[in-house]
Amino acid sequence: MPTRILGIETSCDETAASVVEDGVKVLSNVISSQVELHARYGGVVPEVASRQHVLQICPGIEKALEDAGTRFDELDAVAVTSGPGLAGSLLVGLNAAKAIAFALDIPLLGINHLEGHIFAAWLNSQREEEGPDPSADPGFPLVCLIASGGHTDLVLMEGYGEYQLLGRTRDDAAGEAFDKAARILGLGFPGGPEIQRKSAGVHHAEQLPRSWLKGSQDFSFSGIKTALLRRAQQSGIYPPDESQVEDSDRLIGEMASAFQESVVDVLVYKTLEAADMVGAKGVILGGGVAANALLRQEMKRQSSLPALIPPPVLCTDNGAMIAASGYYHYTRGRGDSLDLDVNPGLSL
Ligand code: KG4
Ligand code: ZN
Repeated sequence: MPTRILGIETSCDETAASVVEDGVKVLSNVISSQVELHARYGGVVPEVASRQHVLQICPGIEKALEDAGTRFDELDAVAVTSGPGLAGSLLVGLNAAKAIAFALDIPLLGINHLEGHIFAAWLNSQREEEGPDPSADPGFPLVCLIASGGHTDLVLMEGYGEYQLLGRTRDDAAGEAFDKAARILGLGFPGGPEIQRKSAGVHHAEQLPRSWLKGSQDFSFSGIKTALLRRAQQSGIYPPDESQVEDSDRLIGEMASAFQESVVDVLVYKTLEAADMVGAKGVILGGGVAANALLRQEMKRQSSLPALIPPPVLCTDNGAMIAASGYYHYTRGRGDSLDLDVNPGLSL
């Protein structure tokens, strides 16, 4: 009998639920995004997010089961993000998961959101008719880049559940930098997809700087952001509402493209440098920024190692990655007690 795990994710502004079979096969993936609600504020408002999760959580879970053709009593366990994230948002998912685990008498598994982003790499990798996809399993050690709105972590993974932090951002997370850059350029929220869209097919002559932080595996993105701000001010693009600049659309496209290239350059170079240093057999990309088309393309082009990059919909927050990580813990007999608390500052 296959193992079916319900994964629930409510750490930030997506209410997500998914049923995954045997840790790899995504039977359903329901994501209710709150982007439009938060867009008018230019970022996620925690109080608004929690209340929206309350509205979306039950319909989301029911839809995930329906799409998966699975009844509640066919679930083997429920996995839920317990941290890191916004406390009030995490609590909604955790309490829903507790209710389900209690009612069905199945294991409750509190999952680290960052581990979830890593496990997304193996989702849907099992091509049953041909056997496992060899590129999906290069073996350990692996170097994982988790680049999201809250994190930019380079992690050495020596085995399932064995993580060592190699480096992290010293200031803004890569996704946060995309979001701030988009705000500078008068583009929408979240900024990553907007910057990508504005950069498509654009050639930029002027480069923005890169922070290499040589000799360290850490990242820094605030310098690139400040350089962008300065250039936007000089050209009259910023502040956006006051700009009456001729040809502003072209200028914004060029600045977006230069910004995207700088961030991607640093992410790819430092990930591959770290992989080389530790003798990794492959690299994993995860987190919302891994949905970026240029990053995906450049990582695949420049890496001589297999690069495991989930499809974009599994890079941004989703319940399937939580179920996948849950499966790993479930097979090791783990189960959390019903007094499990959220941990907003949890690290790997
Ligand atoms: O992992 P995620 O969905 O949520 C967090 O855990 O933070 O990541 C969200 C972040 C946002 O900052 C968003 O701008 C960024 O991922 N992002 C992108 C793209 N899609 C989402 N950044 C660059 N390019 C994209 N296509
Ligand atoms: Zn995330």
